[in-house]
Amino acid sequence: MKRQAGELSLQLKLRRIPKVATFLIAITVLLSLVISVYSPPSFWYKLGEISEATPSLEESTIRRPKDPEWPESNDTTKSKEILGGDEPGSHKAAQETAAAGSTRSSSIPSPSSPAQIDHSYNRTNSQNPTGTTQENYCDLFSGEWVPNPEAPYYTNATCYRIQDHQNCLKYARPDTGFLKWRWKPDGCVLPIFDPNHFLELVRGKSIAFIGDSVARNHMQSLICLLSRVLDPLDVSTGNDENQHWVYKDYNFNISIFSAPYLVRSEKTDPNDVTRPFNLYLDEFDEDWTTKVEGYDYIVISAGQWFFRPTIFYENRTLIGCLACQLDNVARLRMNFSYERAFRTAFRAINSLANFKGVTFLRTITPSHFEGGSWDKGGDCVRTMPYKRNEAVLEDYMVEMYEIQRRELRIAQEEGSKRGLKFRLLDATQPMLLRPDGHPSKYGHWPNEKMANDCVHWCLPGPIDTWNDFLQELIEREEARKSLV
Ligand SMILES: *[C@@H]1O[C@H](CO)[C@@H](O)[C@H](O)[C@H]1NC(C)=O
Ligand SMILES: *[C@@H]1O[C@H](CO)[C@@H](O)[C@H](O)[C@H]1NC(C)=O
Ligand SMILES: *[C@@H]1O[C@H](CO)[C@@H](O)[C@H](O)[C@H]1NC(C)=O
Ligand SMILES: *[C@@H]1O[C@H](CO)[C@@H](O)[C@H](O)[C@H]1NC(C)=O
Ligand SMILES: *[C@@H]1O[C@H](CO)[C@@H](O)[C@H](O)[C@H]1NC(C)=O
Ligand SMILES: *[C@@H]1O[C@H](CO)[C@@H](O)[C@H](O)[C@H]1NC(C)=O
Repeated sequence: MKRQAGELSLQLKLRRIPKVATFLIAITVLLSLVISVYSPPSFWYKLGEISEATPSLEESTIRRPKDPEWPESNDTTKSKEILGGDEPGSHKAAQETAAAGSTRSSSIPSPSSPAQIDHSYNRTNSQNPTGTTQENYCDLFSGEWVPNPEAPYYTNATCYRIQDHQNCLKYARPDTGFLKWRWKPDGCVLPIFDPNHFLELVRGKSIAFIGDSVARNHMQSLICLLSRVLDPLDVSTGNDENQHWVYKDYNFNISIFSAPYLVRSEKTDPNDVTRPFNLYLDEFDEDWTTKVEGYDYIVISAGQWFFRPTIFYENRTLIGCLACQLDNVARLRMNFSYERAFRTAFRAINSLANFKGVTFLRTITPSHFEGGSWDKGGDCVRTMPYKRNEAVLEDYMVEMYEIQRRELRIAQEEGSKRGLKFRLLDATQPMLLRPDGHPSKYGHWPNEKMANDCVHWCLPGPIDTWNDFLQELIEREEARKSLV
């Protein structure tokens, strides 16, 4: 039987108790020190996880949400460094950054400028298994959102796996129009996710998600869509953030491996996730690379963590850093670490001797803060999607997106030598058009002074479409197999 939601959240609370206890002891000692050393947002972010235990500590400022995917606080120098604002061509991103704190806001709609992603080019590269041009699958990823009165396909009453911060219905989001859209590719119809059909497709198979909390958001959407038919068994074990779900009747399982940087990384301060991370850009993150070999499908992604203070190593040698305070160390942009991380992650997959699966790259999606940065009251209050010509991806996002596609092509070439497939699950353009899909202030109660969340996506919500994509992509893979 399905578990009660209350029981689930109780369990979640119980699992947090050791952390809470440790932290409460630490905090009495360190309170004044911490306040003087860290900026208030970082400090309150640390409290985020234990808000229920310490309500009185939350009054003076907003808390940073659990995952450190928000930009650092308003510091234009840092932002320029990260985004390359001094570089020609990045001028727009830097200006907008200056205008809105370090908000990675979506650009102001400008009806005259068309969206910039052209999927017509090179889609044979990513969608064509044989290398010939005979296959004529439609490009799923250029299109438009169209009304769909039948959505949503689940609610928080039918799916017990919605994480609180994305449970927008629970937190009384007043508008529901954002639920009632579907993605319409230009050249075809994208079938809506069908849980019975999907479970048949993946019978005897396994899917591994690798990435950050947006990857987890995607996985939870999948579990919710499937919950109309079956609720999985949670077989998660360790005290890491990885999760494992089993659908016994179908011999199907889903895992998420938490790997926001994709490569081996470590905190420079084990107790403070807001301090810089060391990234070993040429080293595999064995937390996942040693565990995914048997999976049939990998869905890999990475995003906003790359804007955070990070220190780069290659060949175990310090080679540079981003938004750091180290003297005599080369300042590198996030495009450097982002490129290396994907290259290394794909190299890891291609090096798995017994891996026979298909890897989907789920491309980066923009946040939609408007009117300020996340810690300066920025918000996403729109209730409708943009039309395709109403939003343009910011330059720095285009850059990250292009890095992903470049690295995918390199991986495809390498993988083709031994029959490994790498495919595109392009969420970038569809989600650019969904400023209305984020939790905003409906990921917490009004008295919990948390930042508005314009990074993750409400469940149910437009992120469910990623599983329409996933279903269609898996369908295509299985069809190819049966042709051979
Ligand atoms: C940063 O914040 C300060 C104080 O909140 C404000 O005066 C300044 O204009 C902000 N800078 C930017 C670039 O938003
Ligand atoms: C498409 O792929 C081909 C072959 O890999 C490459 O030469 C070409 O530059 C690519 N085109 C674009 C627009 O990236
Ligand atoms: C689901 O949402 C409703 C409001 O639509 C709310 O009253 C209820 O508490 C929520 N339940 C869960 C389990 O989140
Ligand atoms: C899921 O399936 C994969 C591939 O068969 C396997 O390696 C993994 O251990 C399974 N995970 C769970 C939790 O059953
Ligand atoms: C890596 O470092 C070792 C010694 O630290 C050195 O001998 C080796 O040449 C380096 N390799 C590369 C590829 O730079
Ligand atoms: C990153 O950006 C800098 C400056 O625009 C550029 O010189 C460099 O080639 C870029 N690197 C990558 C990996 O894209």
